[in-house]
Amino acid sequence: QVEETYIMVKPDGVQRGLVGEIISRFEKKGFKLKALKLFQCPKELAEEHYKDLKAKSFYPKLIDYITSGPVVSMAWEGVGVVASARKLIGSTDPLQAEPGTIRGDLAVQTGSKQICRNVIHGSDSPDNGKREVGMTANIIE
Ligand code: CMP
Repeated sequence: QVEETYIMVKPDGVQRGLVGEIISRFEKKGFKLKALKLFQCPKELAEEHYKDLKAKSFYPKLIDYITSGPVVSMAWEGVGVVASARKLIGSTDPLQAEPGTIRGDLAVQTGSKQICRNVIHGSDSPDNGKREVGMTANIIE
């Protein structure tokens, strides 16, 4: 099934100069880049993007982090790209992420219980892929 996924290099990834490396991994895997944009994420978009996590204790920290500097948002297309991208990205917690994955190779732990800063986001389902790509396209010109 040809799908679309929303990939966002988070502020720590952009600041650390990891954008090229991350794009390269998706290109080498064979996925198709459909859209790309560097922008400062407005608070409303961050809140809309993470609306399912509103009740979590780390939510305010997450919104501060995502809006703290420019992000690079991308739409990638391919057969099974949503699940495949999650595998390329690795576990949410950089310390748990396997070597060979983006977070396993590139994400660092910056403080105890600090797993917000994990370099990259990828959609968790084809429906969310569509929703997140559409949301960003609508808000950012
Ligand atoms: P992401 O894949 O973008 O989805 C939600 C984000 O919330 C996640 O990456 C992390 O940046 C952050 N996150 C998830 N769980 C925790 C947690 N337990 N503590 C802090 N931040 C978290």
